[in-house]
Amino acid sequence: MNPVLSLRDVHVSFPLSGGRVLRAVQGVDLEIPEGGIVTLVGESGCGKSTLGKVLLGVLPPTRGTVHFGEVQLWARGFRWTRELRLQVQVVHQDSYASLNPVHRVQTILGGPLRAHGLVRGAQEAGRAVRELLERVGLTPADYFAAKHPFQLSGGQRQRVALARALMLRPRLILADEPVSGVDASVRLSILELMKELNREEGIAFAYITHDLATARFFGAGHPMGVMYLGRLVEWGEVGTLLDNPRHPYLKALLAALPPPDPLQARQVGLLPLKSLDLPDATRPPSGCPFHPRCLLAEARCEAGDPPALLDGVACHLVEGR
Ligand SMILES: Nc1ncnc2c1ncn2[C@@H]1O[C@H](COP(=O)(O)OP(=O)(O)OP(=O)(O)O)[C@@H](O)[C@H]1O
Ligand code: SF4
Ligand SMILES: [Mg+2]
Repeated sequence: MNPVLSLRDVHVSFPLSGGRVLRAVQGVDLEIPEGGIVTLVGESGCGKSTLGKVLLGVLPPTRGTVHFGEVQLWARGFRWTRELRLQVQVVHQDSYASLNPVHRVQTILGGPLRAHGLVRGAQEAGRAVRELLERVGLTPADYFAAKHPFQLSGGQRQRVALARALMLRPRLILADEPVSGVDASVRLSILELMKELNREEGIAFAYITHDLATARFFGAGHPMGVMYLGRLVEWGEVGTLLDNPRHPYLKALLAALPPPDPLQARQVGLLPLKSLDLPDATRPPSGCPFHPRCLLAEARCEAGDPPALLDGVACHLVEGR
């Protein structure tokens, strides 16, 4: 079966003042299977959301190709159709910013349903909104339909945002840090709802996060990509990667996680790296982009091209190279 979305050698560069160029995404190959889940992790500024915008179809790549099913987006003669636009929906970290504060939930959800011709008339819209609210666990639905976004908790707003994404019957939902802004206590229930939508409605998910614990919870059994300075440096099944990291960068991220037992005192929260700062993306390091921070770096890591993502990992020192 064709993947919902496939990216080949995708680059995104932003021109800056003074002729400088920021290379936010470099040479990414990625496939999201129909009904599948793909997780992208990496620290702040590594290019996750920029890649997400390419997946969402709102940002054309500077180089490389993006296929949505059979259709090559951005190719010569390509035109967006409404059907195509609706097939990828997004849920952001801060749904408060994307839910119109002057409207009640009934209008926030019912308006687009009517505008897209998915229901006819106020009564049908009311029924559809209540069904949607029940689907995302906001019951009693009448109570939540009458609320404004500011009257809801962060977790409830994320559920409304999921309902809004879901109602347009997308093939793919891009979830960019969807639970970073909500309390730890409700994080898992929202991710559980997303898993349910994936399983029961067959909607594919691209899950973007900097948090390895939620990556494991949501993405287990599915592929995950680890991003560093715009590149994919490791790729594999979530649990396998997190239990047996091979790239020194992922190893460092995992070593910085707090131990399950806080009495096992160890310096926590400090990445075992030469430097805590992500290099300037307008002047990326030569060779392997990770070498200025990598404790294992050798002379060859600084020279030549960055290591290719071979057999799921981009590092010169991985066995047999
Ligand atoms: N429109 C833009 N113009 C210039 N630079 C941009 C633009 N959008 C993003 N960038 C830069 O591209 C790099 C990647 O940004 P991006 O938002 O994709 O990172 P991220 O991994 O999502 O980070 P975070 O975890 O903080 O959300 C950053 O250096 C950012 O400053
Ligand atoms: S290629 Fe070298 S610098 Fe890069 S991650 Fe591997 S060991 Fe570290
Ligand atoms: Mg981001």
